[in-house]
Amino acid sequence: MALSTEELFAALEEIPRVSLAHLPTPLEELDGFSAALGGRVRIFIKRDDCTGLLLGGNKARHNEFLMGDALEQDCDMVVWGAKVQSNNCRQTAAACARLGLPCYLYLSKAGGISTEPQGNLLLDYLVGAHVAFTEAKIGPELDAYLLARAEEFRTSGHNPYVWDRDRVVPRSALSYVDCTAEIADDLEAEDVEAAAIYVSSAGGTGAGVALGAHLLGMAAKVRLICPMTWPWNIPDALARDANAAAELMGLPPQLTASMIDADESYIGPGYGLPSKAGQEALHLLARTEAILLDPVYSAKAMAALIADVRVGKYPAGSSVVFIHTGGVPAIFADPAGVLGSGG
Ligand SMILES: Cc1ncc(COP(=O)(O)O)c(C=O)c1O
Repeated sequence: MALSTEELFAALEEIPRVSLAHLPTPLEELDGFSAALGGRVRIFIKRDDCTGLLLGGNKARHNEFLMGDALEQDCDMVVWGAKVQSNNCRQTAAACARLGLPCYLYLSKAGGISTEPQGNLLLDYLVGAHVAFTEAKIGPELDAYLLARAEEFRTSGHNPYVWDRDRVVPRSALSYVDCTAEIADDLEAEDVEAAAIYVSSAGGTGAGVALGAHLLGMAAKVRLICPMTWPWNIPDALARDANAAAELMGLPPQLTASMIDADESYIGPGYGLPSKAGQEALHLLARTEAILLDPVYSAKAMAALIADVRVGKYPAGSSVVFIHTGGVPAIFADPAGVLGSGG
């Protein structure tokens, strides 16, 4: 039996949370962009690039539940990490600044990534994060590195809230159950039934959208467009994370791996590197709607939507939703990648 959006919002209210994001975000119809793609399919965009918290993005939502968890456990600092130009770290540093928590960021520069204070990194410094760089690669190596740093803080008497995938990803997913319920309400107000929801994710965001759409009984197919591969099976991991999120809401397991559509074919030359199709998407949306995508995540997800619309995957008159997960500061760190030719 599907739940109503009111029932979902009520279940989420039982979970520790702090208010950080501008919610609900708007759902807007992209008339000019849809017209540029032939005008047969209505395209809506959920403006999670407008969540606030230091230039917006999906992590503002995630952090409402993560910081709620940190405060519930009386943590006195946050230990986090990802790549140098991480949107996640920028928004975590911002959440810490708002809550008065010291934030220690360990940023991976593996592969020769520039540490010029630009884009997200510039913002990390501006909001007062303690920034250090490491050669540890993102994934299991950086995860272990962060747990070791947190342990050092623990032995010196602190109680750090640390990036711990098994704890963090299901709580992040809860925030996208919330977003999906907002989308369901928005669509109902427009009297529209979406055929699909597109979002850039290989983690908590996608697990949450897939779980939310399932719990609400939405007809929309959830298309997760992966920005990267992981050394594990993404549908397996996301089903597990979605079920852990369901458990936090007091619900039994809901999803199996076969119910997760995680498409790894839009990564292009690699994680963090612009793709030609992503660049086309970024330029088309900028020129038709004056909305910016980022080359690493949202542009590649939009490239998938464009390709699906162009091959006629959806009948004329149908509607699709694109969740804009933010990431815009990255364009200032790599203007050549935005303007130049991707792979
Ligand atoms: C702009 C943007 N979109 C999408 C994602 C993917 O989010 P998730 O890790 O929840 O899959 C990220 C992750 O950092 C991001 O920064």
